[in-house]
Amino acid sequence: MPHGHEDTPSLSSLTRGLAAVGPLLDSCGYAVLDGLLPPCFALALHDEMATLHRQQLLRPHRFGFKSSPSAPVRIVRKPHIYEAELSEPHVREHAASIGTVSELVATAAGAAFPELQLCPGPNGQGTAVKLQCNEGHGGCFPLHFDNAGPPSCRKLTCLVYLNPSWAEGDGGELELVPWLAPPVRIPPLGGRVVLFRSDLVLHRVLPSLVCRFCFTIWIDGARTNEDKLVLPKSRSPREVCAELGRSGAQRLLSRAVYADEYEASLAACMASTQELCSEMVAQHRAHVAQCDASGPLAKLVHAARELKGEIDEIAGEIVGGPTAPSVAAAAVPP
Ligand code: FE2
Repeated sequence: MPHGHEDTPSLSSLTRGLAAVGPLLDSCGYAVLDGLLPPCFALALHDEMATLHRQQLLRPHRFGFKSSPSAPVRIVRKPHIYEAELSEPHVREHAASIGTVSELVATAAGAAFPELQLCPGPNGQGTAVKLQCNEGHGGCFPLHFDNAGPPSCRKLTCLVYLNPSWAEGDGGELELVPWLAPPVRIPPLGGRVVLFRSDLVLHRVLPSLVCRFCFTIWIDGARTNEDKLVLPKSRSPREVCAELGRSGAQRLLSRAVYADEYEASLAACMASTQELCSEMVAQHRAHVAQCDASGPLAKLVHAARELKGEIDEIAGEIVGGPTAPSVAAAAVPP
């Protein structure tokens, strides 16, 4: 049994708290939980992160990029983002409480959401924990899925925000873009836990103007990515698209259906590295053009864009646009 900070929540309280949003997670693909972690404990987690950053134990975020299928992979840097894996011994040493609570949350999620068939194992097996600092100055992430397809087995993303003083205007909100549904913008309030399906929920991080700490727990599932894109002759492309919200197959269409949103989020993320930004936008446009030119896929993309257009219109009428705040919160039993 892990132990640590005196305010560490118990496994049973975490399991109860998570189970309370099980129906939301199932119906929407995401849920937002406030109050799962005692405020004193959330502050202790923040202090661990701040110390790690001060000691330069978080590295600049880097990722591989190929400007074309035949080009070599280049390792490039995402501006203003620093991170570390909890599995690195020198990180774990300075992040005892984050390590303890990550293990507890993963175990609790396995018990709270049996239908997801999560498989967190002992000693961090089946889970990955990333610690992250967004230094501000507009640091952000473009649209992506946490599980882009096999061989990834990630099923559930649990994000824990640690900034006690976050205020409107600071930026750094998480924007979830559920398939053909209005986007949801979630402020990164300190102590807040956001859960979403790694394989089903497209999302981005909006530019942050202040330094922001968080960590993410990814939990594998036993049967992740088993669904295939099936096109029964009796169903129209429109009918097929309308049902893809619960299928990872939506990822095949996502970039083409949300082409403008992907491009805008890429531009926001890479604005400070102009040449690389242009290459990434060009690669994105080439991918979209390829989808638009490929028979059956193009029919689905077209149908999904029509459906999305109808949702955008309704969302605009109701809440004033796709970036309006909308948080599904749940009270946690004491
Ligand atoms: Fe993500």
